Amino acid sequence: MSILILGGTSDIGSEIATLTCDGQDVILAARRPEATRELADNLKARGATSVHTLAFDATAVNSHRELVTTARELAGDISLAVVAFGILGDQERAETDEAHAVEIATVDYTSQVSMLTVLADVLSHQSSTSTIVAFSSIAGWRARRANYVYGSTKAGLDAFCQGLSDALHGTNVTLIIARPGFVIGSMTTGMKPAPMSVYPHDVAAAVVNAYTTTTSAKSKSTTLWIPGRLRLLAWIMRIVPRPIWRKMPR
Ligand SMILES: NC(=O)c1ccc[n+]([C@@H]2O[C@H](COP(=O)([O-])OP(=O)(O)OC[C@H]3O[C@@H](n4cnc5c(N)ncnc54)[C@H](OP(=O)(O)O)[C@@H]3O)[C@@H](O)[C@H]2O)c1
Repeated sequence: MSILILGGTSDIGSEIATLTCDGQDVILAARRPEATRELADNLKARGATSVHTLAFDATAVNSHRELVTTARELAGDISLAVVAFGILGDQERAETDEAHAVEIATVDYTSQVSMLTVLADVLSHQSSTSTIVAFSSIAGWRARRANYVYGSTKAGLDAFCQGLSDALHGTNVTLIIARPGFVIGSMTTGMKPAPMSVYPHDVAAAVVNAYTTTTSAKSKSTTLWIPGRLRLLAWIMRIVPRPIWRKMPR
């Protein structure tokens, strides 16, 4: 059985790989394969049976099925697939540069939909159980003036994933939908941490805990707020009047 990380240089994806690699064949699919060397060495030191790196451009949606097929040829059935690629983008630029707005929408929605569709199809035809992890965000819960392009992709992706988890109900595939808040890492470099910020390791630990539960207890797909208390903030977010809401910072 193998672990497939899509976005092999992602902070969160790397942490999940680190926590789950012991005794596993790991495939790192990355648009900069050369940047995965240190992680690959680290995973081997932590007990990964093998680590393969594949070149992967998420926007080349026609390559997604072939990539997953190649991963299975290299390392056998996939037990855990983590869809960890994504970009925050530049909201200010996206408001006047439609190509950049489309780039954000493509990486954070269209490409995710494509890859999740391929994974759900391929993994549901495997004989063993497996888990897919997708990353929504608090940013998609209620779109904010300050980052509505990225936020809208997460809202769409979250809705897609809720439907997909229902479609997978009763199959041998479970879907973990992670909804982190602000994560202090590469994606948010230079930004002031928001309340209830977490680190990539915290997100990975919550996801891996859910993964372990789904595999050991044969439980169903799940949606995770990370940290859990973000659920309360999310409830409050929905009732903030719009004149106040539109002034909210990123
Ligand atoms: N960080 C946060 O605050 C936060 C909060 C909520 C949700 N999330 C979501 O969690 C997921 C993981 O985030 P993270 O914090 O791990 O981000 P990260 O460290 O910035 O990693 C993003 C990954 O996406 C890859 N990527 C971007 N565009 C790509 C493309 N066209 N093709 C292939 N790979 C591409 C990056 O590759 P390169 O290294 O080559 O750029 C990198 O591996 C994302 O979906 C993100 O939206 C993050």
